[in-house]
Amino acid sequence: MSFYDEVQEAAAYCRALIKEEPRIGIILGSGLGALAEEMEETAAVPYAEIPHFPVSTVAGHAGRLLFGRFRGRRVVMMEGRPHYYEGHPMKRLGLPMYLMKFLGVKTLVITNACGAINRDFSPGTLMILEDFINFVSVNPLTGENDERLGPRFPDMSEPYSFRLIERAERIADELGIGYAKGIYAGFWGPYFETRSEIRALGILGADAVGMSTVPETIAANHAGLECFAVGCITNMATGIRKEKHSHQEVLEIADRASAELRRWICEFVARTDD
Ligand code: HPA
Repeated sequence: MSFYDEVQEAAAYCRALIKEEPRIGIILGSGLGALAEEMEETAAVPYAEIPHFPVSTVAGHAGRLLFGRFRGRRVVMMEGRPHYYEGHPMKRLGLPMYLMKFLGVKTLVITNACGAINRDFSPGTLMILEDFINFVSVNPLTGENDERLGPRFPDMSEPYSFRLIERAERIADELGIGYAKGIYAGFWGPYFETRSEIRALGILGADAVGMSTVPETIAANHAGLECFAVGCITNMATGIRKEKHSHQEVLEIADRASAELRRWICEFVARTDD
């Protein structure tokens, strides 16, 4: 069975379970699951039941697709995300984005937890992603391309839509939400990076580092989805401060920052009708 057919099978499975097709997709990062409380009239579909869907296994990631209304908009939410370090082939990590495309999603909102390389940031800072650097060296588009999923050579000059960034900034200013903007470096994980890796990433222009988001962004752009992404800085990256990292710390800081993020995303979704 071709990858395209797998996507269609996954889409058909979901379509049979939902009342209306979503227009906006939201991916919840580590510790940011509280956003799911905003969903109404929800159908919850465990990843494990969706044909060909990559299943996430990380603490803080529930592993289901939620379909329903969010501030009146038709939304599909990924409650938890699969990562490359869990052993999923890159191509499979892209499947949820193609599934969204064929269900009718136009806009994708990505959230994540990440470490700060930029010393002006601190734990709790919300960072709009302006661009990414893919340090994972592989991506979901290698191999045979199916034009029904997207073009062979997709443009990546605006992976995060300038007009969605502008919309988010306007909303943040109105609501009095502080934010930063920066470049996200996607790294393999699952280990927190070494001091030298972080120093190198900083020299190369990255403001924050994380273990997700980049494969999703690449597949989503290939699929023609318009993307917006915001990262929650949960810690200073290795070597920027002396403390050692823990996943627990990531979850706690993200949980605290998620109230602000929630207000922001709620209004963003409410004003996204295109
Ligand atoms: N590095 C990579 N991923 C992360 C970090 C980090 O410091 N913090 C949260 N996710």
